[in-house]
Amino acid sequence: MSLKKVDIHWEELGFDAIETRSMFKATCSIDGQWSGGSLVPYGSIELSPAAGVLNYGQGVFEGTKAFHTSKDNIVLFRIDRNARRMAWSTKRLCIPEMDPQFFKEAVITTLKDNFDYVPPYKKGSMYIRPIVWGTAPALGVRAVSEYTFMVFLSPVGSYFKGGVKPLNLKVELDYHRAAPRGIGNAKAIGNYSASLYPLMKAKKEGFDEVIYLDSKNEDRIEELGSANLFIVKDGVIRTPKLSGSILDGVTRNSVCKIASEILKLQVEENDINIKELVEADEVFCTGTAVVVAPVGKITYKDTVHEINQNQPGPIASECKNLLTAIQRQEIKDPFGWIEPVIESN
Ligand code: COI
Repeated sequence: MSLKKVDIHWEELGFDAIETRSMFKATCSIDGQWSGGSLVPYGSIELSPAAGVLNYGQGVFEGTKAFHTSKDNIVLFRIDRNARRMAWSTKRLCIPEMDPQFFKEAVITTLKDNFDYVPPYKKGSMYIRPIVWGTAPALGVRAVSEYTFMVFLSPVGSYFKGGVKPLNLKVELDYHRAAPRGIGNAKAIGNYSASLYPLMKAKKEGFDEVIYLDSKNEDRIEELGSANLFIVKDGVIRTPKLSGSILDGVTRNSVCKIASEILKLQVEENDINIKELVEADEVFCTGTAVVVAPVGKITYKDTVHEINQNQPGPIASECKNLLTAIQRQEIKDPFGWIEPVIESN
Protein backbone atom coordinates (compact mmCIF):
# COMPACT_ATOMS: atom_id res chain seq x y z
CA MET A 1 0.00 0.00 0.00
CA SER A 2 1.75 3.15 -1.16
CA LEU A 3 -0.67 6.01 -0.43
CA LYS A 4 0.57 8.02 2.54
CA LYS A 5 -1.61 8.58 5.61
CA VAL A 6 -1.93 11.05 8.47
CA ASP A 7 -1.26 9.74 11.97
CA ILE A 8 -4.63 8.51 13.30
CA HIS A 9 -5.44 5.52 15.51
CA TRP A 10 -7.45 3.78 12.79
CA GLU A 11 -8.45 0.84 15.04
CA GLU A 12 -10.26 3.22 17.40
CA LEU A 13 -12.49 4.93 14.80
CA GLY A 14 -16.15 5.28 15.68
CA PHE A 15 -18.69 7.53 13.97
CA ASP A 16 -17.58 11.00 15.08
CA ALA A 17 -16.51 14.15 13.24
CA ILE A 18 -12.72 14.18 13.06
CA GLU A 19 -11.17 17.39 11.81
CA THR A 20 -9.41 17.07 8.43
CA ARG A 21 -7.31 19.45 6.35
CA SER A 22 -9.99 21.24 4.34
CA MET A 23 -13.62 21.56 3.37
CA PHE A 24 -15.32 22.87 0.25
CA LYS A 25 -17.41 26.03 0.33
CA ALA A 26 -19.63 27.71 -2.27
CA THR A 27 -22.49 30.19 -2.13
CA CYS A 28 -25.49 30.79 -4.36
CA SER A 29 -28.29 33.34 -4.46
CA ILE A 30 -31.89 32.17 -4.59
CA ASP A 31 -32.23 32.99 -8.26
CA GLY A 32 -28.68 31.92 -9.16
CA GLN A 33 -26.99 28.68 -10.19
CA TRP A 34 -24.43 26.67 -8.27
CA SER A 35 -20.94 27.29 -9.63
CA GLY A 36 -17.40 28.07 -8.43
CA GLY A 37 -16.55 27.51 -4.79
CA SER A 38 -13.19 26.51 -3.34
CA LEU A 39 -11.43 24.63 -0.58
CA VAL A 40 -11.02 26.43 2.75
CA PRO A 41 -9.27 25.22 5.91
CA TYR A 42 -11.53 23.00 8.06
CA GLY A 43 -13.08 25.11 10.79
CA SER A 44 -16.09 26.82 12.31
CA ILE A 45 -18.36 29.10 10.33
CA GLU A 46 -20.11 32.38 11.16
CA LEU A 47 -23.86 32.60 10.82
CA SER A 48 -26.49 35.32 11.31
CA PRO A 49 -28.86 34.50 14.19
CA ALA A 50 -31.64 35.15 11.66
CA ALA A 51 -30.27 32.65 9.10
CA GLY A 52 -33.01 30.69 7.33
CA VAL A 53 -31.53 27.39 8.44
CA LEU A 54 -31.53 28.31 12.14
CA ASN A 55 -35.05 29.68 12.21
CA TYR A 56 -36.95 27.63 9.67
CA GLY A 57 -34.79 24.56 9.10
CA GLN A 58 -33.96 25.32 5.49
CA GLY A 59 -31.15 22.82 5.03
CA VAL A 60 -30.49 19.46 3.38
CA PHE A 61 -27.52 17.12 3.30
CA GLU A 62 -26.09 13.97 1.80
CA GLY A 63 -23.97 11.11 3.09
CA THR A 64 -21.59 9.13 0.92
CA LYS A 65 -18.37 7.21 1.46
CA ALA A 66 -14.92 6.81 -0.08
CA PHE A 67 -12.82 3.67 0.37
CA HIS A 68 -9.14 2.78 0.20
CA THR A 69 -9.37 -0.42 -1.79
CA SER A 70 -7.47 -3.68 -2.17
CA LYS A 71 -6.03 -2.26 -5.42
CA ASP A 72 -4.57 0.67 -3.45
CA ASN A 73 -7.01 3.15 -5.04
CA ILE A 74 -9.30 5.66 -3.37
CA VAL A 75 -12.78 5.30 -4.80
CA LEU A 76 -16.26 6.76 -4.45
CA PHE A 77 -19.37 4.58 -4.40
CA ARG A 78 -22.44 5.50 -6.49
CA ILE A 79 -21.80 9.21 -6.12
CA ASP A 80 -24.16 10.00 -9.01
CA ARG A 81 -27.08 8.70 -6.98
CA ASN A 82 -26.25 11.02 -4.09
CA ALA A 83 -25.89 13.87 -6.58
CA ARG A 84 -29.37 13.20 -7.99
CA ARG A 85 -30.91 12.96 -4.53
CA MET A 86 -29.26 16.25 -3.54
CA ALA A 87 -30.87 17.87 -6.60
CA TRP A 88 -34.27 16.60 -5.44
CA SER A 89 -33.75 17.57 -1.76
CA THR A 90 -32.64 21.12 -2.62
CA LYS A 91 -35.63 21.58 -4.92
CA ARG A 92 -38.03 20.31 -2.25
CA LEU A 93 -36.68 22.74 0.37
CA CYS A 94 -36.70 25.77 -2.01
CA ILE A 95 -32.90 25.87 -2.10
CA PRO A 96 -31.43 26.56 -5.57
CA GLU A 97 -31.52 23.11 -7.19
CA MET A 98 -28.03 21.69 -7.08
CA ASP A 99 -26.49 20.65 -10.36
CA PRO A 100 -25.36 16.99 -9.98
CA GLN A 101 -22.09 17.66 -11.82
CA PHE A 102 -21.28 20.60 -9.54
CA PHE A 103 -22.03 18.44 -6.51
CA LYS A 104 -19.83 15.61 -7.75
CA GLU A 105 -16.89 17.87 -8.56
CA ALA A 106 -17.09 19.48 -5.10
CA VAL A 107 -17.00 16.03 -3.45
CA ILE A 108 -14.05 14.92 -5.58
CA THR A 109 -12.12 18.16 -4.93
CA THR A 110 -12.59 17.76 -1.16
CA LEU A 111 -11.70 14.08 -1.19
CA LYS A 112 -8.52 14.62 -3.23
CA ASP A 113 -7.28 17.31 -0.85
CA ASN A 114 -7.88 15.05 2.18
CA PHE A 115 -6.88 11.71 0.65
CA ASP A 116 -4.40 10.95 3.45
CA TYR A 117 -7.26 10.94 6.00
CA VAL A 118 -9.03 8.07 4.20
CA PRO A 119 -8.64 5.02 6.49
CA PRO A 120 -6.30 2.34 5.12
CA TYR A 121 -7.79 -0.70 3.37
CA LYS A 122 -10.19 -2.55 5.73
CA LYS A 123 -9.64 -0.05 8.59
CA GLY A 124 -12.81 1.98 8.00
CA SER A 125 -14.01 4.44 5.40
CA MET A 126 -14.17 8.16 4.69
CA TYR A 127 -17.65 9.49 5.39
CA ILE A 128 -18.39 12.50 3.20
CA ARG A 129 -21.03 15.01 4.24
CA PRO A 130 -22.16 17.53 1.63
CA ILE A 131 -24.55 20.00 3.28
CA VAL A 132 -26.38 23.10 2.08
CA TRP A 133 -28.37 25.65 4.04
CA GLY A 134 -30.09 29.03 3.94
CA THR A 135 -27.55 31.58 5.14
CA ALA A 136 -29.36 34.88 4.59
CA PRO A 137 -31.65 36.23 7.34
CA ALA A 138 -35.40 35.58 7.46
CA LEU A 139 -37.81 36.72 10.12
CA GLY A 140 -40.98 35.92 8.23
CA VAL A 141 -41.35 32.37 6.98
CA ARG A 142 -39.88 32.30 3.48
CA ALA A 143 -37.04 30.92 1.39
CA VAL A 144 -34.04 33.18 2.01
CA SER A 145 -31.96 35.03 -0.57
CA GLU A 146 -28.59 33.28 -0.11
CA TYR A 147 -27.32 29.70 0.45
CA THR A 148 -24.04 28.10 1.48
CA PHE A 149 -22.89 24.66 0.37
CA MET A 150 -20.11 22.83 2.15
CA VAL A 151 -18.50 19.44 1.88
CA PHE A 152 -16.70 18.17 4.93
CA LEU A 153 -15.55 14.65 5.64
CA SER A 154 -14.41 12.41 8.44
CA PRO A 155 -12.71 9.02 8.69
CA VAL A 156 -15.17 6.60 10.34
CA GLY A 157 -15.53 3.09 11.69
CA SER A 158 -18.81 1.42 12.76
CA TYR A 159 -21.93 3.56 13.15
CA PHE A 160 -23.34 1.56 16.03
CA LYS A 161 -21.24 0.93 19.11
CA GLY A 162 -20.76 -2.81 19.45
CA GLY A 163 -19.77 -3.26 15.79
CA VAL A 164 -21.39 -6.34 14.26
CA LYS A 165 -23.65 -7.28 17.21
CA PRO A 166 -27.29 -7.61 16.00
CA LEU A 167 -29.33 -4.50 16.81
CA ASN A 168 -31.96 -4.28 19.50
CA LEU A 169 -34.81 -2.16 18.10
CA LYS A 170 -38.11 -0.86 19.36
CA VAL A 171 -41.18 -0.18 17.23
CA GLU A 172 -41.96 3.46 17.93
CA LEU A 173 -45.58 3.86 18.97
CA ASP A 174 -45.60 7.48 20.16
CA TYR A 175 -43.89 9.36 17.33
CA HIS A 176 -43.74 9.33 13.54
CA ARG A 177 -40.73 10.14 11.42
CA ALA A 178 -42.51 11.68 8.45
CA ALA A 179 -45.96 12.46 7.13
CA PRO A 180 -47.44 11.50 3.75
CA ARG A 181 -46.58 14.23 1.22
CA GLY A 182 -44.18 15.80 3.71
CA ILE A 183 -40.39 15.90 3.42
CA GLY A 184 -39.63 12.30 4.43
CA ASN A 185 -38.19 11.49 1.00
CA ALA A 186 -35.82 14.48 1.02
CA LYS A 187 -32.62 14.43 3.06
CA ALA A 188 -33.84 17.39 5.07
CA ILE A 189 -32.17 18.27 8.35
CA GLY A 190 -35.62 18.54 9.97
CA ASN A 191 -36.26 14.82 9.49
CA TYR A 192 -33.27 14.09 11.69
CA SER A 193 -34.08 16.67 14.38
CA ALA A 194 -37.56 15.11 14.61
CA SER A 195 -35.95 11.73 15.28
CA LEU A 196 -33.72 12.88 18.15
CA TYR A 197 -36.27 12.76 20.96
CA PRO A 198 -37.61 9.25 20.19
CA LEU A 199 -34.01 8.08 19.71
CA MET A 200 -32.86 9.55 23.02
CA LYS A 201 -35.76 7.88 24.86
CA ALA A 202 -35.13 4.55 23.13
CA LYS A 203 -31.43 4.65 24.00
CA LYS A 204 -32.26 5.32 27.65
CA GLU A 205 -34.44 2.19 27.53
CA GLY A 206 -31.49 0.19 26.16
CA PHE A 207 -32.40 0.09 22.45
CA ASP A 208 -30.05 0.93 19.59
CA GLU A 209 -32.63 2.68 17.38
CA VAL A 210 -36.36 2.80 16.62
CA ILE A 211 -38.51 1.48 13.77
CA TYR A 212 -41.02 4.08 12.62
CA LEU A 213 -44.52 3.21 11.50
CA ASP A 214 -46.38 4.63 8.53
CA SER A 215 -48.22 7.63 9.96
CA LYS A 216 -51.38 6.90 7.96
CA ASN A 217 -51.53 3.16 8.52
CA GLU A 218 -49.85 2.26 11.78
CA ASP A 219 -49.88 -1.41 10.94
CA ARG A 220 -47.13 -0.80 8.37
CA ILE A 221 -43.45 -0.27 9.01
CA GLU A 222 -41.39 2.44 7.33
CA GLU A 223 -37.73 2.81 8.31
CA LEU A 224 -35.34 3.70 11.14
CA GLY A 225 -34.24 7.25 11.90
CA SER A 226 -30.84 6.54 10.35
CA ALA A 227 -31.44 3.66 7.92
CA ASN A 228 -33.86 1.73 5.69
CA LEU A 229 -35.29 -1.61 6.76
CA PHE A 230 -35.48 -5.07 5.13
CA ILE A 231 -37.06 -8.38 6.09
CA VAL A 232 -36.39 -11.88 4.74
CA LYS A 233 -39.02 -14.65 4.76
CA ASP A 234 -38.64 -18.02 3.03
CA GLY A 235 -35.77 -16.65 0.93
CA VAL A 236 -37.70 -13.60 -0.32
CA ILE A 237 -36.24 -10.19 0.52
CA ARG A 238 -38.66 -7.33 1.11
CA THR A 239 -38.35 -3.65 1.93
CA PRO A 240 -41.08 -1.00 2.32
CA LYS A 241 -41.83 0.61 -1.03
CA LEU A 242 -40.91 4.25 -1.64
CA SER A 243 -44.23 5.72 -0.58
CA GLY A 244 -43.11 9.35 -0.47
CA SER A 245 -42.24 9.41 3.22
CA ILE A 246 -39.34 6.96 2.97
CA LEU A 247 -35.81 7.94 1.98
CA ASP A 248 -34.62 6.43 -1.31
CA GLY A 249 -31.44 5.04 0.25
CA VAL A 250 -28.37 4.36 -1.89
CA THR A 251 -27.52 1.25 0.14
CA ARG A 252 -31.19 0.17 0.03
CA ASN A 253 -31.09 0.25 -3.75
CA SER A 254 -27.66 -1.43 -3.86
CA VAL A 255 -28.83 -4.31 -1.64
CA CYS A 256 -31.92 -4.80 -3.83
CA LYS A 257 -29.68 -5.04 -6.92
CA ILE A 258 -27.10 -7.34 -5.26
CA ALA A 259 -29.84 -9.64 -3.96
CA SER A 260 -31.70 -9.90 -7.24
CA GLU A 261 -28.84 -9.78 -9.76
CA ILE A 262 -26.00 -11.56 -7.94
CA LEU A 263 -27.76 -13.76 -5.39
CA LYS A 264 -30.72 -14.34 -7.77
CA LEU A 265 -33.20 -13.92 -4.94
CA GLN A 266 -36.73 -12.60 -5.21
CA VAL A 267 -36.77 -8.94 -4.08
CA GLU A 268 -39.99 -7.09 -3.38
CA GLU A 269 -40.64 -3.44 -2.58
CA ASN A 270 -44.11 -3.32 -1.07
CA ASP A 271 -46.04 -2.78 2.17
CA ILE A 272 -44.80 -4.71 5.21
CA ASN A 273 -46.93 -5.07 8.31
CA ILE A 274 -45.87 -5.56 11.90
CA LYS A 275 -46.79 -9.24 11.96
CA GLU A 276 -44.56 -9.89 8.94
CA LEU A 277 -41.75 -7.94 10.60
CA VAL A 278 -41.73 -9.84 13.88
CA GLU A 279 -42.23 -13.22 12.18
CA ALA A 280 -39.42 -12.68 9.64
CA ASP A 281 -36.53 -15.13 9.31
CA GLU A 282 -34.16 -12.16 9.14
CA VAL A 283 -34.44 -8.41 9.63
CA PHE A 284 -31.68 -5.99 8.73
CA CYS A 285 -31.19 -2.33 8.06
CA THR A 286 -29.16 -0.51 5.44
CA GLY A 287 -27.62 2.91 5.03
CA THR A 288 -24.42 4.61 3.98
CA ALA A 289 -23.50 5.10 7.63
CA VAL A 290 -24.77 1.77 9.01
CA VAL A 291 -23.87 -0.29 5.86
CA VAL A 292 -25.88 -3.55 6.40
CA ALA A 293 -26.71 -4.16 10.06
CA PRO A 294 -28.59 -7.28 11.25
CA VAL A 295 -31.43 -6.90 13.75
CA GLY A 296 -31.58 -9.41 16.60
CA LYS A 297 -34.45 -8.16 18.75
CA ILE A 298 -37.59 -6.13 18.11
CA THR A 299 -39.83 -4.87 20.90
CA TYR A 300 -43.43 -4.20 19.89
CA LYS A 301 -45.95 -3.18 22.57
CA ASP A 302 -43.84 -4.64 25.40
CA THR A 303 -43.27 -7.99 23.69
CA VAL A 304 -39.70 -8.77 22.71
CA HIS A 305 -39.40 -10.76 19.47
CA GLU A 306 -36.12 -12.48 18.86
CA ILE A 307 -35.11 -12.60 15.19
CA ASN A 308 -32.95 -15.48 13.92
CA GLN A 309 -32.01 -16.34 17.53
CA ASN A 310 -30.38 -12.92 17.85
CA GLN A 311 -27.71 -13.88 15.30
CA PRO A 312 -26.77 -12.19 12.01
CA GLY A 313 -28.81 -13.88 9.27
CA PRO A 314 -27.17 -15.55 6.24
CA ILE A 315 -28.79 -13.33 3.60
CA ALA A 316 -27.93 -10.08 5.42
CA SER A 317 -24.36 -11.34 5.81
CA GLU A 318 -24.09 -12.26 2.12
CA CYS A 319 -25.47 -8.88 1.02
CA LYS A 320 -23.06 -7.09 3.35
CA ASN A 321 -20.06 -9.14 2.22
CA LEU A 322 -20.82 -8.58 -1.47
CA LEU A 323 -21.47 -4.87 -0.99
CA THR A 324 -18.25 -4.26 0.94
CA ALA A 325 -16.27 -6.47 -1.46
CA ILE A 326 -17.45 -4.31 -4.39
CA GLN A 327 -16.71 -1.11 -2.45
CA ARG A 328 -13.18 -2.32 -1.63
CA GLN A 329 -12.52 -3.60 -5.17
CA GLU A 330 -12.05 -7.17 -3.88
CA ILE A 331 -14.41 -8.49 -6.54
CA LYS A 332 -15.45 -7.21 -9.95
CA ASP A 333 -18.02 -4.40 -9.84
CA PRO A 334 -20.69 -5.69 -12.22
CA PHE A 335 -22.80 -2.54 -11.89
CA GLY A 336 -20.33 0.29 -12.61
CA TRP A 337 -20.81 1.68 -9.09
CA ILE A 338 -17.16 2.38 -8.30
CA GLU A 339 -15.53 5.63 -9.33
CA PRO A 340 -11.75 5.80 -8.77
CA VAL A 341 -10.64 9.24 -7.57
CA ILE A 342 -6.98 8.49 -6.80
CA GLU A 343 -5.31 5.59 -8.54
CA SER A 344 -2.01 4.36 -7.18
CA ASN A 345 -0.71 3.14 -10.54
C1 COI B 1 -26.25 8.10 6.08
O1 COI B 1 -26.38 6.89 6.18
O2 COI B 1 -25.36 8.58 5.38
C2 COI B 1 -27.11 9.04 6.77
O3 COI B 1 -27.22 10.14 6.32
C3 COI B 1 -27.77 8.61 8.01
C4 COI B 1 -27.29 9.30 9.22
C5 COI B 1 -25.91 9.15 9.65
C6 COI B 1 -27.95 10.52 9.54
